[in-house]
Amino acid sequence: MEKLYEGKAKVLFPAGPDTLRVYFKDEATAFNAQKRGLIPGKGVVNNKVSATLFRYLEAHGVKTHFLEEVSDREMRVLRVEILPLEVILRFKAAGSFAKRYGVKEGTPLKTPLVEFSLKSDPLGDPLICPEAILALGLAAEEELSQVRTTTLKVGELLRDFFAQRGLDLIDFKLEFGKRQGEILLADEISPDTMRLWDQKTGEPMDKDRFRKDLGGVEEAYQEVLRRVLRG
Ligand code: TMP
Ligand code: ASP
Repeated sequence: MEKLYEGKAKVLFPAGPDTLRVYFKDEATAFNAQKRGLIPGKGVVNNKVSATLFRYLEAHGVKTHFLEEVSDREMRVLRVEILPLEVILRFKAAGSFAKRYGVKEGTPLKTPLVEFSLKSDPLGDPLICPEAILALGLAAEEELSQVRTTTLKVGELLRDFFAQRGLDLIDFKLEFGKRQGEILLADEISPDTMRLWDQKTGEPMDKDRFRKDLGGVEEAYQEVLRRVLRG
């Protein structure tokens, strides 16, 4: 079937008037696609991890675009109009935050921190403050407030979920979409979009292994899937 859109990690196909089929690829990019590679099996892991987490969040009252898994690498979702924002929640300093403020990776934050980036490859997803989001009309005040509240709730739920599986959730990125005036959690939640550190060893078990050439990338993705499916 004709694809609707191909991104760096996923391909979207029309599935019905109101639904899409999302295909998860093994291709990986980092640093705004300056670094490219393949993580064999990543698409399967990200599809299954995302599906499991969307179901878990739905069971706890979070509205998402997820409908069903349709194959190892594919899920069916509701069509939404994606807000052009990457919503990041941080529990501990890492990545761009640690670098920006000169803080050691792993430093606990006194409160969970919500950050926003503008989704724009040409601009390299720059940080954007809530006032600029409102001034540019990227979201309404009520929508932004809902996005923030939902992100904090998702953070608490995911942190518990992973803690029970021996993984420390350091930070993650969410995307939201609008459908019939309602805000839904969309995109994916996977080792591509989270930092997960093994509680015992402190080893990263996520895309940082690819970003930083740490080795054992495939193995880390498979181990996260194994623990997520353990129930
Ligand atoms: P950062 O520390 O590099 O800003 O990343 C914060 C979180 O967002 C981290 O869990 C990885 C995730 N992330 C994405 O999902 N997509 C991206 O393009 C980037 C840069 C980070
Ligand atoms: N997904 C982003 C990219 O390629 C970056 C990242 O995840 O680090 O560009």
